[in-house]
Amino acid sequence: MAEQSITVGILGGTGDQGRGLAYRFARAGVPVLVGSRTEEKGQQAAEELAKLPGVRATPRGGANPWVAAGADVVIVAVPWEGHGDLLASLREPLAGKIVVDCVNPLGFDKQGPYPLPVEEGSAAQQAAAILPEARVCAAFHHVSAPLLADPAVDEMHLDVLVLGDDRAATETVQALAGRIPGVRGIYGGRLRNAHQVEAFTANLIAINRRYRAHAGVRITDV
Ligand SMILES: NC(=O)c1ccc[n+]([C@@H]2O[C@H](COP(=O)([O-])OP(=O)(O)OC[C@H]3O[C@@H](n4cnc5c(N)ncnc54)[C@H](OP(=O)(O)O)[C@@H]3O)[C@@H](O)[C@H]2O)c1
Repeated sequence: MAEQSITVGILGGTGDQGRGLAYRFARAGVPVLVGSRTEEKGQQAAEELAKLPGVRATPRGGANPWVAAGADVVIVAVPWEGHGDLLASLREPLAGKIVVDCVNPLGFDKQGPYPLPVEEGSAAQQAAAILPEARVCAAFHHVSAPLLADPAVDEMHLDVLVLGDDRAATETVQALAGRIPGVRGIYGGRLRNAHQVEAFTANLIAINRRYRAHAGVRITDV
């Protein structure tokens, strides 16, 4: 797939993570479709994003099924609680698409964040089980939403681990991550190894709380 001509769709694009990713891609000139359970909410989020500094490709917004049908690469950025049901409802429009799961199944208690057990092994594997005809990858778990959303941040110095079983799909997602200045997309293994990548977000949140930071991940010697 010619990476330059890719349209990125974001399910849950009205939330912190989805909106932040939409902003970064729009700044990089990538066409973005912002998805919501409510058409008007998706449109409104896209209109708001279009007014932010540095946007080079005007995002469009709408309902999640419209986004799933219209995008080449579809990022899933909804809470874990809604993940399975939403994807099951979009099985048809997502067939054949590259689906990028960034969902971290986490719980929070008095001791802070902790990974939740997932029957399929991970959120990404659940996506693959629900969407057998999609090319499911996992990425963007460790990218901080506040950093993505901050117009004053020109470059983000971190790596995005991209996991998946379809080499061409993971390479497309790596290249997409690399459209964000300062970011590298690094292959992180097969989808069956997504669990610890999702779970590691609990460690990053703990780091962020202790050090009042927006910590990310850098892979050395690559
Ligand atoms: N926040 C971060 O820094 C961060 C970083 C990395 C990964 N993530 C992952 O990204 C995902 C989204 O995080 P977030 O902080 O952006 O969450 P969020 O703001 O709570 O939710 C994102 C959007 O999902 C939609 N949504 C909410 N409940 C839903 C449901 N039951 N079914 C379908 N859609 C639903 C909502 O959009 P509509 O009401 O418009 O439909 C909402 O705006 C999470 O799985 C999280 O683990 C977050």
